[in-house]
Amino acid sequence: MNILVLGSGGREHALAWKIAGSPLVERLYCAPGNAGIAKECELVALDPADHAAVRAFSKARKIDLVVVGPEAPLCAGIVDDLAAAGIKAFGPSRAAARLEGSKGFTKNLCKANNIPTAAYARFNAAAPAIAYIRQHGLPVVVKADGLAAGKGVVVAQSLAEAQSAIERMFAGELGAAGAELVIEEFLHGEETSFFALCDGETAIALACAQDHKRAFDGDRGPNTGGMGAYSPAPIMSDDLSSRVMDEIVMPTVRAMKSMGTPYKGVLYAGLMITSAGPQLIEYNVRFGDPECQVLMLRLMSDLVPALLACCDGVLKNFDLRWYADAALTVVMAAKGYPGAYAKGSVIEGLDAAAAVEGVEIFHAGTLAQDGRILANGGRVLDVCATGKTIAQAQARAYRAVDCIRWSDGFCRRDIGFQAVAREKP
Ligand code: AMP
Ligand code: GLY
Repeated sequence: MNILVLGSGGREHALAWKIAGSPLVERLYCAPGNAGIAKECELVALDPADHAAVRAFSKARKIDLVVVGPEAPLCAGIVDDLAAAGIKAFGPSRAAARLEGSKGFTKNLCKANNIPTAAYARFNAAAPAIAYIRQHGLPVVVKADGLAAGKGVVVAQSLAEAQSAIERMFAGELGAAGAELVIEEFLHGEETSFFALCDGETAIALACAQDHKRAFDGDRGPNTGGMGAYSPAPIMSDDLSSRVMDEIVMPTVRAMKSMGTPYKGVLYAGLMITSAGPQLIEYNVRFGDPECQVLMLRLMSDLVPALLACCDGVLKNFDLRWYADAALTVVMAAKGYPGAYAKGSVIEGLDAAAAVEGVEIFHAGTLAQDGRILANGGRVLDVCATGKTIAQAQARAYRAVDCIRWSDGFCRRDIGFQAVAREKP
């Protein structure tokens, strides 16, 4: 088979790495990719936002499967545009991608199907939104309805904070994404990520993972795309996992099918494990980044037949096998991320880092130039390791991090701390 992966982050490096190991693959391409992905396959200078160009390339190179990494092309309907040209693509249709593309859509779906989620209301003007908060109390969560690259959620402790977020969003700070807002109840508990493959009718749970969203140690500082992750997530017992499938994932899959917009692809549920059980914080319609990196390291089965089964609606009775070993990844980011950062600094020591036992390095924002690796984004490297325990994977990952010389980069030093504490006898 010929496969094209779309995207350029650590998630796509992990997907390309895993797909490259499949005996089913004849030719593997990635567009636009990065310096690390270039070692797994051929890079193509295509913009995933240019659906016509992706379609033309896929036709010319006889691509049998396009694997879409990020949410933007999914929400823009790339799977529909490829399907219209007879090209199979892994991921939801534009209508099904509304589960990530519109928070209001997802909240209404939850309400209509008794899916546990924070109490909420939708607004398109500031005054009623503020009145609602006065009535319901604080803290409160203010969310832009549309895609906002991780910047659309404000957890407000005070009315002033909430009011300022509401006014900025309605003033157009996030563009069209903020034209409508969801205001919701603040949930207390521990966050975790849950992933399921879906074929429109059936869903199967993947291994669980947890990420650290805050920029600095101790889960402090601004929200980011994710500064590190590990799998398994010790909080996710088998019982909890069954509840998530029964109370959240399957009702969603059934609802999407009954609306005539069946969900195919990977469904990523951001959950809060509260004292009352699991509640849905949000859906994403793609693999998490960096959670995907640790999932791919733990997946024993061939990923390609699973992706095809989702597209073809034959996931029923499908079985995926996982390694028992844990995996952990530390994200190295450019200083300043998630705010402004510089590009172009040199990164050295990657070979020594990759030689540490159990270590695998996935690239995110990197560029190869004159035989050197340069930083070319906010999140730049995913230093991953496997181990018998999360503690062992963590120790190996940080041993590798310490081999990397990059004066313009930083990382958290405590990825996995809650999981390691839970492992202690
Ligand atoms: P989201 O983009 O919806 O995942 O929100 C970003 C982050 O905001 C989440 O990862 C949570 O840490 C936090 N958050 C969102 N909604 C809630 C909520 N209802 N209660 C508590 N925290 C929340
Ligand atoms: N790691 C969070 C995300 O992929 O959205």
